[in-house]
Amino acid sequence: MSSQNHTADGVPRSNGMPVLGLGTWQNDDAETCADSVQTALEMGYRHIDTAQAYGNEDAVGAGIERAAVDREDIFLATKVWISELAADDVIASTERSLDKLGVDSVDLLYVHWPARTYDPEETLPAFGELLDRGLIDRIGVSNFEPHHVDRAREVLDEPIFANQVEMHPLLQQAALREYAAETDLELVAYSPLARGGVFDVPELTEVAEKHGVSEAQVSLAWLRERGVTAIPKATSEAHVADNFASLGLALDDDDLATIEGIDREDRRVDPDFGPDSWD
Ligand SMILES: NC(=O)c1ccc[n+]([C@@H]2O[C@H](COP(=O)([O-])OP(=O)(O)OC[C@H]3O[C@@H](n4cnc5c(N)ncnc54)[C@H](OP(=O)(O)O)[C@@H]3O)[C@@H](O)[C@H]2O)c1
Repeated sequence: MSSQNHTADGVPRSNGMPVLGLGTWQNDDAETCADSVQTALEMGYRHIDTAQAYGNEDAVGAGIERAAVDREDIFLATKVWISELAADDVIASTERSLDKLGVDSVDLLYVHWPARTYDPEETLPAFGELLDRGLIDRIGVSNFEPHHVDRAREVLDEPIFANQVEMHPLLQQAALREYAAETDLELVAYSPLARGGVFDVPELTEVAEKHGVSEAQVSLAWLRERGVTAIPKATSEAHVADNFASLGLALDDDDLATIEGIDREDRRVDPDFGPDSWD
């Protein structure tokens, strides 16, 4: 994780990645999805997160196409699904993703899960090939624990840019944050609103009321304060706007202490094909 710097478009970036993005999981009505992507981009978002498994890459592409924002100003990320982790499948499925998204390249391509179908020696060189061919700008991993990242870095000559993991005030991931800071790895927080869970936490409500903002904003501002990029999913314009407003929320030391006093390990995403146990 590195220090953040502001750019002309107003969204802080960390190593080139805008620190707030729009998530799109389960935004699977094509028209709604394209609308929310367009709305977000025109509001000032510059980072969009999708995945092959979400079945909405074409709708995300339509939203990008419709928005009055240049492609080169948008940081676009997608993920290779667990059925596509053999080398040839990584390449072919990514080419299909680019077609659906209507772009020549993506800014970040993740291994979605270190599932049983993931074999570092088989999967990762194909990511390296995509980088060499200019079809992706950065390699990412998702749902990786430190030992998975260490192994990936042994196998791959190219850098691992980011690890996308579940993170929010109910799952604060202190060990992963420490590992990322020590090893020059960006962290991207998925489910940064705990899939709605942040609205039922008294400590977050207390901080939100103090600042006259939503609990969603408090959660997103806490992640930003800790050097972590967040990709909240929102479909309505009101939610898209509320989350964007978190960029203007400055938390003080008392707020951070209140949030970090929440002592929970409330994981919301834990499929059978994920790691058997989380560190
Ligand atoms: N790598 C992975 O394995 C992985 C796993 C899970 C998620 N992700 C990524 O992370 C993104 C975000 O995670 P998520 O979708 O699981 O959950 P989330 O962002 O924590 O929460 C989304 C939920 O919060 C609601 N919401 C959003 N903003 C709100 C606001 N300001 N006020 C009130 N409600 C609000 C949304 O409602 P509306 O939709 O009605 O606005 C939706 O129901 C995903 O979309 C996906 O891109 C990645």
